[in-house]
Amino acid sequence: MLEKLIEHLIEEHQDYLKKIKNFQEQLEKNFSEELVQDILKFLKEDIEEHAEKEENELVNEILKINPDYDEEAIIFGHNTIREAVQDLEDTYYEFKKGKAKKEDIIKYANKAFTIVRDHFLEEENFLFPDIRRLEKEWL
Ligand SMILES: [Fe+2]
Ligand SMILES: [Fe+2]
Repeated sequence: MLEKLIEHLIEEHQDYLKKIKNFQEQLEKNFSEELVQDILKFLKEDIEEHAEKEENELVNEILKINPDYDEEAIIFGHNTIREAVQDLEDTYYEFKKGKAKKEDIIKYANKAFTIVRDHFLEEENFLFPDIRRLEKEWL
C-alpha cells in the first residue's frame, strides 16, 4: 500500500517535471497572459492536490507504521511552495495593474518551478527512502 502510493507520487513528479519544462520553454518563447494563467492553475490545482495527497494519504500510511512520525517536515516544504506560488500570483496582479513587468512574472514563475523541482528531488532522495526503510524495519 505504502509502496504503491510512493510509486504513484513519483509518477506524478515525472509528469509534473515534464509540464514544468514545457512551461519554462513557453515563458521564454511565447509569453502571454493565458500562459501565466495556465501556470497558476497548474501550481494551484495539480501541485496543490499532489501536496495534499502527501499531507493526508501519505502521512496516514506513515503513521500506521510509526505513530510518532513528525509530519511537520512534509508540510513545511509544501508551505514554501505555496508562498512562492502566492508571490507569483501577486506579481501577476501587479502586472495586470501595470505595476510589474513581464520579466518579473518570468522571474517568480521560474523561482516557483525551481522550488517545486528541488522539493521533488528531496522527497525522492531522502523522504521516500526513509519511509521505505521505516516500513522494512516495521515488517
Ligand atoms: Fe511534497
Ligand atoms: Fe511529492
